[in-house]
Amino acid sequence: MSVVAAKELEDDAKKYASEAIRLDSQGAHGMAIQMYQKAISTLVKLVHLYPDYRLNRQYTERAMAYQERVKAIQAAHGLLPRNDGPQFDLPSASNDSNEGGPVNTSGGKGPQVVQQLKASFSELVITEKPDVKWDDVVGLEDCKQAIRECIVFPFLRPDLFKLGWPRGILLYGPPGCGKTMIAAATAAEIDGYFISVDAASIVSKWLGEGEKNVAKLFNNARKMLSDNKPVIVFVDEIDSLLGTRGQEVGGEVRVRDQFLKETDGINDKGKNLHLYVIGATNKPWSLDLPFIRRFPKRIMVPLPDLEARGSQFRLYTAPLTLSDDVGLETLAKISEGYSGSDIKDICQGVQLRVVRELFKSGKALDKETEARPITMADFKDVMKTRRPSVSPEASRAYIQWSSSFSAL
Ligand SMILES: Nc1ncnc2c1ncn2[C@@H]1O[C@H](COP(=O)(O)OP(=O)(O)OP(=O)(O)O)[C@@H](O)[C@H]1O
Ligand SMILES: [Mg+2]
Repeated sequence: MSVVAAKELEDDAKKYASEAIRLDSQGAHGMAIQMYQKAISTLVKLVHLYPDYRLNRQYTERAMAYQERVKAIQAAHGLLPRNDGPQFDLPSASNDSNEGGPVNTSGGKGPQVVQQLKASFSELVITEKPDVKWDDVVGLEDCKQAIRECIVFPFLRPDLFKLGWPRGILLYGPPGCGKTMIAAATAAEIDGYFISVDAASIVSKWLGEGEKNVAKLFNNARKMLSDNKPVIVFVDEIDSLLGTRGQEVGGEVRVRDQFLKETDGINDKGKNLHLYVIGATNKPWSLDLPFIRRFPKRIMVPLPDLEARGSQFRLYTAPLTLSDDVGLETLAKISEGYSGSDIKDICQGVQLRVVRELFKSGKALDKETEARPITMADFKDVMKTRRPSVSPEASRAYIQWSSSFSAL
């Protein structure tokens, strides 16, 4: 396989796609469709010529997203679908990212697609308050305190903050340690509004619409402010707004720029604006400096320490029947490096072990029979097969990034 040839095709696809998005945003629909179709053909060619190429999954998803956009334009502007447009016939590697069959540009599904696109904004943005409390979040006292100071204090006594206060908070750290949970708890604890969006879907599903929707998101947030309550916009997996470095095929740059513009807007204007952006990421090093600067508070959500691991084991084993030999302190000691989410998985793992045994014995269907108590050996066996999901190197990388960028 020639990587050079693949690179050329990739460059072509990028060129066509950005041109298509530019034309699309200017309302030149016919020309935009042509460009999208060129981008699709090129991506399809790439996937066929190099079925093993590591980016194929991404290309396939891109091509499908462009195709959706073409259908949407055609339907919205009464443009007849063309039957000679590129058709998908994808190698099996990508089957898990679509329904598995070829996608057709023709067919009478147009208005449906427009409906779907219209629905997409409300679908991707969740404004309901999550059902998580501060106390459900084990440990992480520093993070909780920092968030309280940052959001609750200025809201209660804005007059004390003569120099203003930060509106952007970045939560970063290894996966499964409570970033999403903390943001949810913040929302539940304040008497205000919470808007939650997943950055990855802004980029992938709102293709070509991405920047418009980022603007819409912030417009909506500003409208909610009129109730004189704080509004929190939570953007999970915020690193995906920047795209995969050097592999921009769609509109990520514009989505990112729009996001920077919007966050500037809330940081500069109106001293008493209670609009906050909480971003979460487990890849802080993929954020660039302009981006980092928009989050004056940067808080690491680390792996749980000994005490927090003990509390997590206590929490998740509370409903289980444990044998006397199970010591929570010992469990906490032997689980260094495991995340909160790992600990939950371990507890579910031991539960499954005893339930599985009961089913094997054939007694499970008798509602009176309980599973046997869980022993220390069960925990140790489960932990042997379930290693920590964060490696020591990864863990060090967070600490290193923190030493340069943490801002409490
Ligand atoms: N500090 C914690 N207290 C209680 N439960 C926790 C904690 N950390 C993680 N968990 C458990 O792990 C699950 C995953 O946590 P969460 O989604 O908040 O992690 P995250 O840091 O956002 O991870 P990712 O970076 O993968 O998005 C939670 O739903 C919860 O069950
Ligand atoms: Mg998360």
